Amino acid sequence: MIQLQFHSDSASRFIPADLFEQSEKQIQTAYQQLVRQTGAGNDFLGWLDLPEAQSADELSRICQVADRLARLSEVVVVIGIGGSYLGARAVIEALQGPFHPFMNDTRHPQVLFAGNNISEDYLFDLQQILNKKDYSIVVISKSGTTTEPAIAFRIFKEHCEKKYGKAEARERIVAITDRSRGALKQLADQEGYDTFVIPDNVGGRYSVLTPVGLLPIAIAGLDIHRLLDGARQMRACLTTKDDTTENPAMQYAVIRNFLYHNGKKVELMVSYDPSLFYFIEWYKQLFGESEGKENRGIFPAGCIFSTDLHSLGQYVQEGERILFETVISVNQSHHTLAIPYDEQNTDGLNYLQKRKIHDINLIAEEGTRMAHVDGGVPNLRITIPEISENSLGEMIYFFEFTCALGGYLLNINPFDQPGVEAYKRNMFKLLGK
Ligand code: PA5
Repeated sequence: MIQLQFHSDSASRFIPADLFEQSEKQIQTAYQQLVRQTGAGNDFLGWLDLPEAQSADELSRICQVADRLARLSEVVVVIGIGGSYLGARAVIEALQGPFHPFMNDTRHPQVLFAGNNISEDYLFDLQQILNKKDYSIVVISKSGTTTEPAIAFRIFKEHCEKKYGKAEARERIVAITDRSRGALKQLADQEGYDTFVIPDNVGGRYSVLTPVGLLPIAIAGLDIHRLLDGARQMRACLTTKDDTTENPAMQYAVIRNFLYHNGKKVELMVSYDPSLFYFIEWYKQLFGESEGKENRGIFPAGCIFSTDLHSLGQYVQEGERILFETVISVNQSHHTLAIPYDEQNTDGLNYLQKRKIHDINLIAEEGTRMAHVDGGVPNLRITIPEISENSLGEMIYFFEFTCALGGYLLNINPFDQPGVEAYKRNMFKLLGK
């Protein structure tokens, strides 16, 4: 049984009551293309079966390597960009929260990320940290040729070898890459690093449930089995129910598609909990790279509310009416903190005494929803009971499945990314490669 629920009642005034009937033929075609694997890009559908397909041996090797690196390290640097880091970061930051570096968690290493930018100061500062900490490196690149992680790896490989010597550095470096191709695979073989394989039929942005996501998540001490369980439950639901009224991904895909064709060109993915910031970054890459091509596609944007209500809130309420919002709504917080009573009540907050902060946050969400709907912003809602490995696993599979359906509804290939090459061609030319 899945726990995630999809709600579209606050979008009902923007969509026809019989939308699902009207769209039946279109969504059935998209659904069958996906589950029968007959659509564009069907050689990249390995992610559909990942929650079931990970062998017990592979999972236990992931856990063993994670334990080894954890024993050796206070910090593990995960080097990768795009799909080669966002999934891991999304899950780790959702579960650890923003203050984890200050929590003195001595049982698990701190996972830090590199190779996702070309900032000299970022790399320099990280080197300063690594001068003082015991650390290991997980370098991830499917192609094995991406410039950003290659630069970061060259720097930290040299640093690691100088600090620990070549033999010990070998124990501290793990590569995740293609089975047989690419510079990283060649380097890993040459140096004798432990390696994990990214399956040929899984693209970067769909790879969080392969070792790409699972190894860093396990290193952080999080439960990859429960993450996969959540995804497995969602897979069982979405791949077996072809009736739109029973399948939340089909509903979400149909409504997004309708809103897009009726002027709502931007989807704001919203969380009222800052720990989902990187989950929203992961969503932005998944949908942006999958749908944005051939001059089509919803622009995926993200907000943390109520923070961004004090920056973007004005635009959402009264700017161009090109927005709809999808809120990831979390029913329960993990901890309890209530508003204390104050004798003087100078701040006037005694009317909230004893109210739980999370309940106030949920009320902020409700009030915002009402205001935005009044302002012409359709509101979709995805509810989960709490932020946990299980619910994140459900959400990962749910968004991946919806994204693939959305691509087929737009008649594009959701699994390629030809546009990403344009900046690289120019950069290489300018660098004289
Ligand atoms: O989804 C994708 O395919 C991309 O975002 C890649 O993940 C990203 O460009 C990194 O590529 P690679 O893993 O080959 O270094």
